[in-house]
Amino acid sequence: MTYVETDLTATISDLAGADLHDLTQAQIDGIDQFHSGGAEAVDRLIPGLGLKPGMTVLDVGSGLGGPARQIARSAGCDVVGVDITRAYVEAATSLTSVAGLTDRVQFVETDIATLERTNFDAAYTMHVQMNVADKPAFFTEIGRRLRPGAHLAVFEVCRAGRRDPALPLPWSIDGSDNFLATPADLRSNIESGGFTAVEWVDETAWILQWFDELGARLADADTAATLPALLTDGYARMLNFAAALADGILTVHRGAFRLVGR
Ligand SMILES: C[S@@+](CC[C@H](N)C(=O)[O-])C[C@H]1O[C@@H](n2cnc3c(N)ncnc32)[C@H](O)[C@@H]1O
Repeated sequence: MTYVETDLTATISDLAGADLHDLTQAQIDGIDQFHSGGAEAVDRLIPGLGLKPGMTVLDVGSGLGGPARQIARSAGCDVVGVDITRAYVEAATSLTSVAGLTDRVQFVETDIATLERTNFDAAYTMHVQMNVADKPAFFTEIGRRLRPGAHLAVFEVCRAGRRDPALPLPWSIDGSDNFLATPADLRSNIESGGFTAVEWVDETAWILQWFDELGARLADADTAATLPALLTDGYARMLNFAAALADGILTVHRGAFRLVGR
């Protein structure tokens, strides 16, 4: 069990010493983007989604909802986030209410396999499939929720070879929910779900630079409410992630795909 935090919005307020309404967007960005690359990673993902205002987008493993709110704001789309962790769905819903986006962004506590709604115009998933053992089934279930020709964008962590990263990691505290694939295997698992690749980019060098600058960003954040402070063992998890990237054990890959059918 990795995502064990509860009462996240109360903890954010306690850490910040302020009401959630008083946090700036930059401060919120430093806590609700639960992936490497922060809000800039979402900016890099958006072109691969083929979005137009009014479309409805599916976020698989939506976490605290930072990417969903960013996409709703910047692309004028509705977003439905699904996540299996109740406390994260509750926090994402509260943060969305504070942001005044409740009419455009919703979160549902469910596994993608049991989501009833279909016909989404696009989907994305960020730093989620490392928790998923059966990746072909995961991407097949995403494809079943999309209209034909829809875009899927991913921003995901892969293993570079056979060496294991040190634990704890942001997505796995004890290793029990850690299912890393190589970039080639992940791409093939996505394609087996009925997708064809449009773009497949190794973002590791940029993410390493992002980690290099993280200390300065945390110092500049002007709040103690940061993602590493919010998460159980958060600083050790981030440090191990950055070290494994620097040692060539892990990569971060961004992909854009289109649904062509199985
Ligand atoms: C590292 S967080 C990333 C959250 C979010 N995508 C982001 O980038 O801010 C991983 C998230 O995936 C969720 N998750 C893991 N396995 C899942 C599954 N099978 N279906 C839906 N969500 C899942 C976890 O609950 C957690 O919120």
